[in-house]
Amino acid sequence: MASSTMPTVGACIFDAYGTLFDLINPVAARAAKVGDKAQALSELWRRKQLEYSWLRSLMGQHVDFWRVTGDALDFAMDALKISDPSLRADLMELYLSLPTYEEVPSVLAALKEGGLKTGVLSNGAPMMLTSAVNCAKISPSLDVVLSVEDVGVYKPDARVYQMAADKLKLPPAEIAFFSSNAWDVAGAATFGFQTVWCNRGGAPKERLPGAPVVEVKTLTEVLPMLGL
Ligand code: LAC
Repeated sequence: MASSTMPTVGACIFDAYGTLFDLINPVAARAAKVGDKAQALSELWRRKQLEYSWLRSLMGQHVDFWRVTGDALDFAMDALKISDPSLRADLMELYLSLPTYEEVPSVLAALKEGGLKTGVLSNGAPMMLTSAVNCAKISPSLDVVLSVEDVGVYKPDARVYQMAADKLKLPPAEIAFFSSNAWDVAGAATFGFQTVWCNRGGAPKERLPGAPVVEVKTLTEVLPMLGL
């Protein structure tokens, strides 16, 4: 942990998958029908999803995150020799109604009550984000739900973080950005956001530029650091 206090900020912006929304438990539950391949399927799917987002950004071949997520799932099922169209449909469908981590609704509400702007900044396609946010009933606590589709490139490209600063009309240093993905924290910190790494899984730190201001285990820990 770099520090136990956050600088004064005007907005708190959150990554979606793995930060606000739990992917691991719902995917594990649906994938249980493939028995001992379930964990490998879950891990390979997420890894490929991120790899495809980075590779497509480098290649200048953007397609939206629904397509990237489906392509990654097809790769993972192929690699693990799982042929089950109804499982594929079920797993994709999950993205439209992911549960939040337990503390998320109350933390977002507290931030908003505390006078801070709140929002999501995610790779997710607008329809994926709208659906998940509505299902989780957290939209009243969110001022903005921002998708990379507005800039046509994936995180950690600086244009994504710049788009959020532009929409919020705040300088980057007055925006706190929260992610469970350490590579996303690295990108956002390098861009100039105040970053919080919500290291839910106790992952080792990335060897990348851009350190978090604080590292926490759950989002609740941030409230006192923001004076709430
Ligand atoms: C997102 C991915 C990176 O929501 O979790 O942008």
